[in-house]
Amino acid sequence: GSVDKGGHRHFMAKEIHEQPATAAAAVAQYVSPGRDRVLSPAASLDWAGLERVTLVACGTAFYACQVAKWWFETVARLPAEIDVASEFRYREPPLPARGAAVFVSQSGETADTLAALRYARSQNQTILTAVNVETSSMAREADVVLPLYAGPEIGVASTKAFTGQLIALAATAILAARARGAVDAAEEARLVSALCAAPAALADAISREADAARVAAEIARARDVLYLGRGPMHALAMEGALKLKELTYIHAEGYPAGELKHGPIALVDERTPVIVLAPTGPLSEKTLSNMHEVMARKGRVALISDAAGCAAAGEGVWRMLEAPAADPFIAPIVYAAPVQLLAYHAAVARGTDVDQPRNLAKSVTVE
Ligand code: G6P
Repeated sequence: GSVDKGGHRHFMAKEIHEQPATAAAAVAQYVSPGRDRVLSPAASLDWAGLERVTLVACGTAFYACQVAKWWFETVARLPAEIDVASEFRYREPPLPARGAAVFVSQSGETADTLAALRYARSQNQTILTAVNVETSSMAREADVVLPLYAGPEIGVASTKAFTGQLIALAATAILAARARGAVDAAEEARLVSALCAAPAALADAISREADAARVAAEIARARDVLYLGRGPMHALAMEGALKLKELTYIHAEGYPAGELKHGPIALVDERTPVIVLAPTGPLSEKTLSNMHEVMARKGRVALISDAAGCAAAGEGVWRMLEAPAADPFIAPIVYAAPVQLLAYHAAVARGTDVDQPRNLAKSVTVE
């Protein structure tokens, strides 16, 4: 057919490796040719008048919403609510007058997300959708479509659509920040230039695949795996755990690193790999201190960080997975690569069906 594996063993491998190109395609659409401003179909919204933005999705797309909440709140100072669509739609939450709601989806057909969109429409929200399939129901029903430019995604586990969602949402958060006066032109240019660096940083992260494969082969033997992160890295920890469980059937949980001491640390023993996501930035010191709490209880820590973070980690870390140094703003985009590669290679090591995991569907169009 027109979509083949392009020499890769699985669609998922092909789609992971396509990300530098698909991310570059998205960045080219969402930033100005001078690379100092964002361009977005959402430019006509009254971002300054908005009280709150609501973001709703399922699965991996929900974790893109969780990262976007961080961006909208910290960069644009815009309060953001997030929810999974199956909860949002039946709770029928009160929504602000003249509010805006963003529905994030690869397919644009997920039944719960589409129903959530229709509920928001009934509540007079301005409807945005960050969606890969531009002919989908969500794209048709939205006021504003934020395309992902990822191309067809075949692997059931979403990869390049996720990084496309992050780029579209990062650009929209910068747009909101500028409109709300939360950043000036110089700061906007700095954020845009960070975003422009994301495709090359993804390429760099993916080029370290052999390191990820080695760690993955060891993780593939575990019964339980914990993923820890703070801030946007909590979202990536959730995404990493989702990917691992759906592809390998190993029990995995993502946790906010600071919440560890309130329960999950009881699970830590010498058999439990604990994957710590800690790019250098305002939260890295706190995360590394949580990592040391795990190590003090004989947990086997696999640290994913940049060279500076790996150096700061000190002795006794079980495995280090070095990632490229990146502006903290784009770290969630860059760290998608190692968590995808870990899950992919753990699945290959276990011999599970990477592109079509048991019990899962690419697009869930029924309830
Ligand atoms: C399924 C897929 C996931 C995907 C989710 C949402 O569960 O297995 O990979 O994240 O649906 O799909 P959507 O098309 O709305 O992004």
